[in-house]
Amino acid sequence: MTAPAPARTTVGIVGAGPAGLLLARLLHASGIDCVVLESRDRGYVEQRQRAGILEQGTVDVLRESGAAERLDREGLPHDGIELRFDGRAHRIDFPALTGGRRVWVYAQTEVVKDLVALQLADGAPLLFEAQVTAVEGAESAQPVLRYTHQGVERRLECDYVVGCDGFHGVVREAIPAGARQTFERSYPYSWLGILADVAPSSDELVYAHSPRGFALLSMRSPTVSRLYLQVPNGTDPADWSDERIWDELDARFALAAGDWKLARGPITAKSVLPMRSSVTEPMRHGRLFLAGDAAHIVPPTGAKGLNLAAADVTVLARAFTGLHRTGSTELLNSYSATCLNRVWRAEHFSYFMTSTLHTAPEQSPFDTRLQLSQLDRIAASPHAAAELAANYAGLPLV
Ligand code: FAD
Ligand code: DHB
Repeated sequence: MTAPAPARTTVGIVGAGPAGLLLARLLHASGIDCVVLESRDRGYVEQRQRAGILEQGTVDVLRESGAAERLDREGLPHDGIELRFDGRAHRIDFPALTGGRRVWVYAQTEVVKDLVALQLADGAPLLFEAQVTAVEGAESAQPVLRYTHQGVERRLECDYVVGCDGFHGVVREAIPAGARQTFERSYPYSWLGILADVAPSSDELVYAHSPRGFALLSMRSPTVSRLYLQVPNGTDPADWSDERIWDELDARFALAAGDWKLARGPITAKSVLPMRSSVTEPMRHGRLFLAGDAAHIVPPTGAKGLNLAAADVTVLARAFTGLHRTGSTELLNSYSATCLNRVWRAEHFSYFMTSTLHTAPEQSPFDTRLQLSQLDRIAASPHAAAELAANYAGLPLV
């Protein structure tokens, strides 16, 4: 579908990932004019295999924005996860430990499809294959997005620009280097992720610590499993035959009692993802705002990436709504500080889950004992488990 290409708008949104699409939905609901520019085509954006877990707060905001009809029908509510270590299984019960919060298994691909469909049906303009090449006047009262759409160079005048353009986007780079600071960490391992046409072997997600490295059992539906294996950085998925993957998963999920079996099925997708933590501060410069992966990324172990993106744009939409209704810029002024508070909590939790469950290449037996002691503590102490549950199910939006 080809939408008309407007020349000016109130909020120019770069990127139609979960952050850009949800922001557009929330602004539309408040009667605020916006335009979304997305460099890829619709099929690519809707098929890109990424996150799978939605926090309670993300589901709440999708419901508020009218985008949860299919999620409520097809999403799988989960009340806990299993931690598997030292050949033992321990369940973390989210509602019991958090006063009723839980998570949903509903893939990012489906969230994006639902939001795109709503946007094209009754939302603000959403242009695919519209690549933003430059942000001009970052410090002026009227920033301009230059973009190429269907081979034609165009410009969009905006009152505000929001970079929802992911980790490799252009909006962050438009903020002068002296006005931003980036904090980063890389990890000495990656994930090999697969999709398989087989019913998940567990009703809930299983996070496994093993002497052979980390493994995660997740799912996309009652008939599709999503599984991950820790692999060395630089791994070529082609080096992993289907049989090698299943054998390795078996070994890492093994229980001492020997009574658990992983069901195998045809593998339909295989990819390797690197792990990185990164935060850029502040998340605003003049009339430019950053949201989601454009401002921060986390290693996937805590399932936080998509949820942080949803939290950012919820805060930002409230701020634009405040401006629209009362003329006050107070919430826009506190946007960066409000988001960074939650971002750093999620950064720590993602780092904690990652470093507690993975085996680093140079890991000493001492380090492994520390990991197992930490996992034992979570299994033995409701206080330690409650801290994990609160972070995993997602802290309420302040
Ligand atoms: P994105 O989804 O990256 O969307 C950004 C959009 O901007 C893209 O559509 C891009 O095409 C567009 N764009 C970029 N540059 C331009 C431009 N110049 N002009 C116009 N458009 C542009 N999180 C988890 O919680 N669990 C996971 O298992 C998990 N797996 C992941 C696997 C991979 C390979 C990656 C990259 C991320 C994964 N994440 C995962 C993180 C999660 O998917 C992201 O946090 C989430 O997508 C963030 O949403 P976003 O809208 O901020 O960014
Ligand atoms: C999935 C990904 C994660 O990073 C995670 O912690 C849990 C689930 C998933 O893709 O299903």
